[in-house]
Amino acid sequence: LRRLAAAGAALLVAAVAGLALFGGAGLAQGGGEPASPDLVARGQALYRSGCSSCHGFDARGIPGRAPSLRGVGALSADFYLRTGRMPLQAPQQPPERGEPAYSEGEIRALVAYVASFGGPRIPEVDPAAGKLPDGMRLFSDSCAGCHQIVGRGGIVTGSIVPSLEDATPTQIAEAMRIGPYLMPVFGSRQLDTREVDSIARYIVSTRHPVDRGGWGLGFIGPIPEGMVTWFVAIAALLVVARLIGERTTR
Ligand code: HEC
Ligand code: HEC
Repeated sequence: LRRLAAAGAALLVAAVAGLALFGGAGLAQGGGEPASPDLVARGQALYRSGCSSCHGFDARGIPGRAPSLRGVGALSADFYLRTGRMPLQAPQQPPERGEPAYSEGEIRALVAYVASFGGPRIPEVDPAAGKLPDGMRLFSDSCAGCHQIVGRGGIVTGSIVPSLEDATPTQIAEAMRIGPYLMPVFGSRQLDTREVDSIARYIVSTRHPVDRGGWGLGFIGPIPEGMVTWFVAIAALLVVARLIGERTTR
């Protein structure tokens, strides 16, 4: 019977994992499916007119202007294009988040073209599979020093650290694997897929006070929030005590 139960449990776990994987694959934009030659050709045309002046005619880079894009993969292209960091106006300009310069279809084509030289795929992220407490711990250990504990950004020497309010779970995973600009690279040996899921879950949770349980109070921090709770709770308890007291005296 115990064996049967174990087998049942294993089946359930497999089913849930399958479902999670399926859901994740549905979310990831262009995760694994091989790009059609038409898409790559369209991407190449867009690349030649919009990117080659800095990254070189065939994406090998131009010394002193911009790095080679051979081998950076769909992961990096997707991140830089969807966060509006590319194309830059001038090679010396620091890349910053903004509105994407290209449409969804154009981004897919450009990503397919860059990916045709090889390199890592767009990561599949499933925040629901992560654990919130793990995410919070990992985030405070590895990220909060720069991005601030609820991801509102800040300043480090030589750079402004962006707020994480707009980054999608996929972009969070991409940023960790790339390490854009002054941000360190977090490879899969340091933080595995499940840990990335947990971090993404934590970052997403910082945007929705409801997810954190109760009233966010503008995320001013646990101590002032706790003080407010104390005052509210004490007042409520006084009212309750009074009501109970009144009832017993009658
Ligand atoms: C004005 C020059 C310029 C143009 C135009 C430009 N880039 Fe860039 N690109 C750069 C520079 C400079 C960097 C390096 C940024 C850094 O180190 O933070 C960069 C970095 C990148 C990276 C990151 C590479 C890596 O190592 O992970 C990608 C991907 C990228 N560019 C894609 C594009 C695409 C696609 C286009 C066209 C839509 C484009 N860029 C247009 C200058 C440019
Ligand atoms: C040393 C400081 C530093 C640390 C530590 C750091 N980051 Fe960053 N992060 C940056 C900087 C600087 C940028 C902006 C880079 C750019 O614009 O090219 C950035 C960009 C990002 C972005 C892109 C934001 C956007 O809206 O486009 C994400 C997502 C991100 N970081 C997540 C993380 C996570 C998750 C961790 C921890 C695992 C982390 N960062 C650790 C400095 C840091």
